[in-house]
Amino acid sequence: MCGIVGYLGEKDTKGILLSGLKELEYRGYDSAGIAVLQKNDFQSYKAVGKLINLEEKTKEFVTDSFAAGIGHTRWATHGKPTELNAHPHLGESSYVVHNGIIENYAQLKKELVAEGVTFLSQTDTEVIVHQFEKNLKSATSAFEAFTKTVSELEGAYAILLVTKSEEKTIFFAKQGSPMLVGINAENEKYFASSDTPLIGQCTDVNYFEDGDYGYVTKDELAIFDITGTKKEPIFQKLSTNKLSAQKDGYRFFMEKEIYEQSTVISDTLLGRLTETEVLFDELDANLFDGIKEIKLCACGTSYHSALTASYMFERHARIKTSVEVASELRYRDPILTTDTLFVVISQSGETADTLETLKMAKKAGLKTLVICNVDNSSMVRLADASILTRAGVEKGVASTKAFATQVTVFWMLSLYLAKAKNTLTSDEITKQIQLLREVPASVQVSDTIHEKIRRLSKRYLNGHGFFFIGRDVFFPLALEGALKLKEISYLHAEGYPSGEMKHGPIALADPGLTTIALLPQHLLYEKSKSNVEELSARDATICAISPLVFDKADDYIPTKEHTDYMLEFFEMMVVVQLLSLEISVRLGNDVDMPRNLAKSVTVE
Ligand code: M6R
Repeated sequence: MCGIVGYLGEKDTKGILLSGLKELEYRGYDSAGIAVLQKNDFQSYKAVGKLINLEEKTKEFVTDSFAAGIGHTRWATHGKPTELNAHPHLGESSYVVHNGIIENYAQLKKELVAEGVTFLSQTDTEVIVHQFEKNLKSATSAFEAFTKTVSELEGAYAILLVTKSEEKTIFFAKQGSPMLVGINAENEKYFASSDTPLIGQCTDVNYFEDGDYGYVTKDELAIFDITGTKKEPIFQKLSTNKLSAQKDGYRFFMEKEIYEQSTVISDTLLGRLTETEVLFDELDANLFDGIKEIKLCACGTSYHSALTASYMFERHARIKTSVEVASELRYRDPILTTDTLFVVISQSGETADTLETLKMAKKAGLKTLVICNVDNSSMVRLADASILTRAGVEKGVASTKAFATQVTVFWMLSLYLAKAKNTLTSDEITKQIQLLREVPASVQVSDTIHEKIRRLSKRYLNGHGFFFIGRDVFFPLALEGALKLKEISYLHAEGYPSGEMKHGPIALADPGLTTIALLPQHLLYEKSKSNVEELSARDATICAISPLVFDKADDYIPTKEHTDYMLEFFEMMVVVQLLSLEISVRLGNDVDMPRNLAKSVTVE
């Protein structure tokens, strides 16, 4: 995830910006940069890779007088992680840093290019600085030009801008991406996209609200709301604990990552949906030419999202789809034909088994695509095409938000394909796009449900095992629920198709066997229900997750009534994640770093 810092004051601006960026390192990045305006002179430095590269480049640079400085760590979305694409971006005499995505950048860029503006990067961000400078030509002040620019942007942003035309000022704007400003007794002003860089530097902070914009000078902090009305800052005391600030106050990174699924899914969708179609600017229009089949390949949680995708691809795009566990495919001498699109899925982009299968597919001459969370990872570099999931850094070893964003990408991709292959009507695609827009709301965690799951969790600390069961896409979700529970609670759990229990596992049914039953209202409800009744009749302990009350269950976790099973899928995903988390907490396990596991499995 990108990170922003800013500083206005008399201390060592370079040092403050670099140490602020260091505090944001945990969020992940692939390039970084700073720009400092002091004595009416701009200096800017950028470097790809770790911050040490930027420190090296700025070794000779001295900041010893009043200055306005901005800095950024970039996690590539539009354009590769190169120096040119790294922030800050330069106009004629202004620099900008930006988190988020400017949805209408293509239109703005087209107009600017037509007016003779030259762009240096492939980013959406660069339009901000050029648009500002265009507006500056006819404005009476830099603030007027900035205000106009902000009103012309669509999408999500946290922006800092410095300009020679208003030397001792930093302009800011916030919409959808987090940013705060901090102050201290020395009259300095600090900005950042999260608390950590400000700890130890500021005493009080104001968290900007959506629509806020304004400027800071040595003596002034001027904030305006979306209507242009000046507002008073609302200062809060800043926490002094860095680790807890990184966790945004949550007990564990995994918990934070479950809660931020709504935001990251919004990022996944951003700029990729119109009313009637799904857009993947990163894909060549001819990627699917000559493709008759899709083969998906992955490990662990990513394998479960691939399984979910196979249902959507066949249902929506009517394309034959198979799914492979990477460690199996590697050694079984598979038949790989060039009319198959080979798709690997990986949060990290580095998993050894998955990477090897990608190499195999390339060697066999197949077109390849990777769905990945980390730009510039080995898989992204190797595959012919890539779609980034935009989940941000996932720190919890037990994957949560990576899965959520992978499934979101797959849902979009199934519609993208359906449109290309004409397998869904345009009304149906429009309806599905509308549903996709509802996903961020469906994964929002309510206090009531979290508390209910926390209370229930005490009933599930022993027994001889768990079966998570579901049908259709709820079967991969059952597998994922079981994997989460295994990973962090160390209890035995299996995921099973509901209809398959009678073919063997039902022999295990007794009060010590817990069945976590996924019972969506809008997909095979009656069939799933009778499978659960069979287990209930054999006295298995049942925990039903459903919007419909199920009287044969021992425990019941109610989900909301949705209009479509995919929204039920996403809500139930959150429920099984939280259930594992709370069981693990009660058992006293290390939730974020479970025993025997590693975040990135780069060995066979
Ligand atoms: O980085 P990847 O998505 O390729 O990782 C694959 C698996 O190692 C990973 O999903 C693993 O199963 C997680 N610990 C699941 O929570």
